[in-house]
Amino acid sequence: MKAAFIEKTGSPDVIQYGDLPAPALKPHEVLVKVQAVSVNPIDTYIRNGANYWPLPQPFIIGCDLAGIITQVGSDVTDWKVGTRVWGSNQGLLGRQGTFAELAAVDPQWLYKTPDNVSDEAAAACALVGITAHLGLFEHGRLKSGETIFVRGGTGGVGAMVLQMARAGGAKVITTAGSADKAERCRQLGADHVIEYRSCDWAQELARLAPQGVDVFWETLREPDFDTAVAAMAPCARMILMAGRDARPPFPVGPFYVKGCSLHGFAMFKASAATQAVAAQQINHWLSTGALYACIDRVLPLSEAATAHALQEANTVRKEGTLGGKIVLKP
Ligand SMILES: NC(=O)c1ccc[n+]([C@@H]2O[C@H](COP(=O)([O-])OP(=O)(O)OC[C@H]3O[C@@H](n4cnc5c(N)ncnc54)[C@H](OP(=O)(O)O)[C@@H]3O)[C@@H](O)[C@H]2O)c1
Repeated sequence: MKAAFIEKTGSPDVIQYGDLPAPALKPHEVLVKVQAVSVNPIDTYIRNGANYWPLPQPFIIGCDLAGIITQVGSDVTDWKVGTRVWGSNQGLLGRQGTFAELAAVDPQWLYKTPDNVSDEAAAACALVGITAHLGLFEHGRLKSGETIFVRGGTGGVGAMVLQMARAGGAKVITTAGSADKAERCRQLGADHVIEYRSCDWAQELARLAPQGVDVFWETLREPDFDTAVAAMAPCARMILMAGRDARPPFPVGPFYVKGCSLHGFAMFKASAATQAVAAQQINHWLSTGALYACIDRVLPLSEAATAHALQEANTVRKEGTLGGKIVLKP
């Protein structure tokens, strides 16, 4: 089968595209004919040598997939050949990744794709959608009528947070790096969009939410706690999920006197059952049109190295050249 894989870590050009043997199916797995995958920042950190865990050799890159089941393992009773599925959490914790024509997956990480949802949309929403759902409802305990600020609403995670918060009945304030991107955030349901490159975003946030925000979701890798805590309402929750190397100062007094709380999490550590609850709601929102997959471009899988370089240029170097997810097709 064709696959995008690495034999050593390093810059995007370590990604090879070529033939690997089809995966050997274990009794508890199903074989998925992959129709679409999407790129996430963590794919680039792992490829670059983040060394979170030992990698299979060779390592097929990628976490997300959507496709169709073509074979079921002998212990699998509740999945059938021909079922369209999507999923995430592959290529992590030592598991093999998804950027290939075929993937052997434990179906605890798979969800049925609704008939009216494309493979591209399902793959684009996989890791980022589950992340947004966990952060908003499991950790942030967002309630209808509350105000949320998501910094980076045009990003993979941010666009999901924005739409799900809106679907959950919250007022949403976000940021965008250009007028075009701001307009897209409004179309996705943002009540207010701060164009952060042309104003003081903290001042603008204070004007828009003078009582403070109930949830402050930081998607950047360098959180500024002084500004964030000043923008938070009493008892507000801050969501942190990026920036492993960040060591910023923290305003202890202002934070605890307001009774605020800080919630950090990594989606891939959530149990399969917890992720399945998020996936079920994502499926409902995707099939009813309440959730839109923001796809910047669709590339052939052979361009995985180009896709990684582009993702890295945006997430790490903040070049602002991406306006949604990169989807690839084997
Ligand atoms: N903990 C977890 O479970 C988890 C899960 C998923 C992702 N993550 C992490 O979360 C981070 C975001 O992931 P992602 O997929 O959303 O990345 P992404 O698609 O690259 O999004 C990054 C966003 O940051 C925005 N941005 C850049 N500089 C900014 C600034 N100065 N002010 C405001 N916004 C700015 C960009 O907006 P513009 O284009 O509008 O400038 C872009 O939309 C990554 O570090 C990733 O590793 C963690």
